[in-house]
Amino acid sequence: MAAVIVRRRRGPVGAAGAGDPKSMARKPADLAVMLGQVLTPPAIADRMVDALGARTPGSTARILDPAVGPGTLPIAIQRRGWGGPEDQYFMRDIDAEMVAACRDGVAHRNVDLVQADYLVEDHSGYFDYAILNPPWVRQEWIAKKDLYRDTLQQRYDLVVPGTANLYVYFLVRVVHDLKPGGRFVAVTYDSWKATRYGQWLMQFLVRNCEDLLMQDIHHQPFEGRLVDATIISGTRRRSPAPEEDTRSRVTPPAGYARLGDLVESQRGLRLKQASFFMTSLAVPGATPFVKKLKGARGYALPSNHSEWALLAENQENPGAIELEVERRLAKALREPDANKSVLTWFHERPTTWSTHRPAPRAPILFNYYIRNAPRHIRSDGRAYADNFYGITPRGTPVDAVIALLNSTQVRSALCAHARNQGNGLRKLQLFEYRDVVVPDWTKFPSSAIARLRDLGASLVSGSDNSSAVLELVDHTIDGVLRGSLRPDRRSP
Ligand SMILES: C[S@@+](CC[C@H](N)C(=O)[O-])C[C@H]1O[C@@H](n2cnc3c(N)ncnc32)[C@H](O)[C@@H]1O
Repeated sequence: MAAVIVRRRRGPVGAAGAGDPKSMARKPADLAVMLGQVLTPPAIADRMVDALGARTPGSTARILDPAVGPGTLPIAIQRRGWGGPEDQYFMRDIDAEMVAACRDGVAHRNVDLVQADYLVEDHSGYFDYAILNPPWVRQEWIAKKDLYRDTLQQRYDLVVPGTANLYVYFLVRVVHDLKPGGRFVAVTYDSWKATRYGQWLMQFLVRNCEDLLMQDIHHQPFEGRLVDATIISGTRRRSPAPEEDTRSRVTPPAGYARLGDLVESQRGLRLKQASFFMTSLAVPGATPFVKKLKGARGYALPSNHSEWALLAENQENPGAIELEVERRLAKALREPDANKSVLTWFHERPTTWSTHRPAPRAPILFNYYIRNAPRHIRSDGRAYADNFYGITPRGTPVDAVIALLNSTQVRSALCAHARNQGNGLRKLQLFEYRDVVVPDWTKFPSSAIARLRDLGASLVSGSDNSSAVLELVDHTIDGVLRGSLRPDRRSP
């Protein structure tokens, strides 16, 4: 029977990591809560065993449960008749009482059961299967957080978000401890989908696993916990996902999609020498252009944005552009040091030096150099420079997509893919942007899309309280993900 084990407090678990900021304000008083000891109900344990998949007849397997408790999941394996007599069970629990209970409960000849902190061990690439209900412990209460984070960074070059719950470390470690082609099944609370670190975990899983499946379990299955659950299963990739492949290289789980499948995305125009071709005075025939968004706050390009570019594409007044380009060329020839790049073009390509490819236009712009929170802004459709990706939704109203792209869920997913450039700056390449996995809004009910469209319109119009609007956006998306707003089958 599912139970929350309540015992008297026995002191801290493990050594505190140096320099760990701690909020002890609501630190739980009993050890069971500190160790995330919430047992899996038998019906869910059985479903998890089934999700491990069919066994090859006669095969033997190394099976890991890194947070075994009293043996709930290995016992379910035996109850379902899934295991074989020669299988090897590898089980860990940090709590001696759990280990003792497990020793009594799991009857098998090949058992490696030790009281230990699984997260400080190393079994990379060793197991065929892993099954787990990882401990759910808030980041403030993880005594060895620094050690766990350092280990993952040094061993796998992974930077787990500092806010991550303890179960995130378990899932990352378990995937690495599987052989390529090995399978895992885990159960977690469903609230992870709405968190920043949950989105980080999602990106980690889609990059490292095939056949990723998330099954939502409603009706608060954990006794004494007012939360729903998700069973996550997957197979460790046999070969790493190719880095620069712009075609689909990740298979999002049900209910999620690659951003590249939901929107068109295109890099902006690279000017041959920005200082030469940009103009802030509206030279007759110049093309409205966005290069810098200095001072622009909010979620729309300011209507008085005053950048233009001298692009030989506007047929209404080509003469005026040519005249201005000639005037600037004469000046550049007098100041060659400040105009090296454009003069090189002029000398090497005398007929095409002042022409550019057609400038792209899009209703949404995204600056892929990220300093704080990544922001998507509504554009009036003018041409844009190569520090932006232009985004055109496929089928979904633009304002709804503005709301979605600025939600915590999508922002967190974008951050999880961005690479550090130093000095607090991160960058997201176009192929990485397209591969970010986000809630599949084409499956959202039309009522949720209508709500998001209104909220997006409010962001674009410069609502005084955009953070309150964004909270409503998150809430709406969360409602769909948790199933309180049932998806309908709108096609994109
Ligand atoms: C959510 S319970 C799951 C127990 C059991 N597997 C089940 O499904 O019913 C998580 C277990 O992980 C153990 N645990 C917590 N931190 C651990 C660590 N660092 N290493 C190993 N086990 C740990 C707890 O003592 C607890 O028994």
